[in-house]
Amino acid sequence: MTTRAPKLRVVQWTTGKTGTAAVRGLVGHPALELVGCYAYSPDKVGQDVGTLAGIEPIGIIATDDIDALLALRPDCVSYMPFRPNFDHIERILESGVNIVTTMYMLAGSGYGEDVHQRIAAACERGRSSLYTSGVYPGHVAMTALAASAMCTRIDRVSLLESLDMSGYANEKMFRAMSIGLQPDDPAAPGMIEANCGSFKEQIRVLGHALAVDIEEIRFTAEFAAANQDTDFGFMKLEKGQIAGFKGIIAGICGGRSVIECRFVWKVGHDMTPNWPTEEGYVIQIEGDPGVQVRLQPLAGAHFAAGGPTAMAAVNAIPQVVVAPPGIVNHADLPFVTGRHLLTRTSPNVVG
Ligand SMILES: NC(=O)c1ccc[n+]([C@@H]2O[C@H](COP(=O)([O-])OP(=O)(O)OC[C@H]3O[C@@H](n4cnc5c(N)ncnc54)[C@H](OP(=O)(O)O)[C@@H]3O)[C@@H](O)[C@H]2O)c1
Repeated sequence: MTTRAPKLRVVQWTTGKTGTAAVRGLVGHPALELVGCYAYSPDKVGQDVGTLAGIEPIGIIATDDIDALLALRPDCVSYMPFRPNFDHIERILESGVNIVTTMYMLAGSGYGEDVHQRIAAACERGRSSLYTSGVYPGHVAMTALAASAMCTRIDRVSLLESLDMSGYANEKMFRAMSIGLQPDDPAAPGMIEANCGSFKEQIRVLGHALAVDIEEIRFTAEFAAANQDTDFGFMKLEKGQIAGFKGIIAGICGGRSVIECRFVWKVGHDMTPNWPTEEGYVIQIEGDPGVQVRLQPLAGAHFAAGGPTAMAAVNAIPQVVVAPPGIVNHADLPFVTGRHLLTRTSPNVVG
């Protein structure tokens, strides 16, 4: 028989796209209990967290009072704002409260060595841990590590995200990633690379887990041009403008590419070249034996909906709470699973 420990107390930090999915994942979770919620937006302060997450009211009120949230004595904060606030992170960790987050740049020195040291020191003072996950970067890397255990020799590990992103409908993000520029615009590759810090971090985390020293990380990209003018509703693209790109972020060891994060991102499918998409993730381990793992949503499901990103962090909470102090990565934790989820009931989505 499986005995169940008392539920771990969790404070959710913000209710945006990912945070909303985390609240829905926490309410009714057999091993976790949502006890409080931080709101960044003033208009969310004072509102019921269930209502903010699009489910029935749950009697927990969102607040921006950090002392009150820490006084709830949570075991963990599920930290999912749009941007990090290092003062908040330091305060949470040094008070002895662990953090799981979908901000993968926090896994290493993505925000600079000073920030990394500051967070590690706060963990040490509070005897607390911080774990970063998500889907990509995140659980796709952990899945690759699980698959790697079947090999006698590994030549290269590559992770591919391959999607038509138009359903994401985020013009600001797409334009920041070069969509809409001319394919020969010299700024285009740099714009994508500037947004790839978390994937570089994922390569370093995998390198650490597989015991290779990543000497250098290289970036290459190629572009696809729209075949005609198209109005996507959330943005317009003209014929000839960048409508998709294919990129490789390569971790180099011994002069060769050993760990690669690849992506094919397209806005629609009417472009040249018109690369096929996998609508999900493909992990390939070249070696003996070569191994391929595909992570794809079943019909009707959608990985971009925020749930998988949030739950890869939330479901790690039991392991993170008992982890040694410090910033812990995939290789430092027992494999994160959907333990207990076979017995749960999800809250009803309203509206
Ligand atoms: N690893 C992965 O697979 C993956 C995938 C997707 C996202 N992410 C990461 O997860 C985090 C959350 O993403 P998201 O798409 O859920 O974000 P989001 O919906 O855009 O924003 C999340 C929340 O951040 C707060 N916020 C808004 N503006 C802010 C600002 N200027 N500074 C700080 N906080 C602000 C708001 O909190 P209130 O709700 O309280 O107002 C907002 O709802 C991001 O860091 C993102 O990069 C990771």
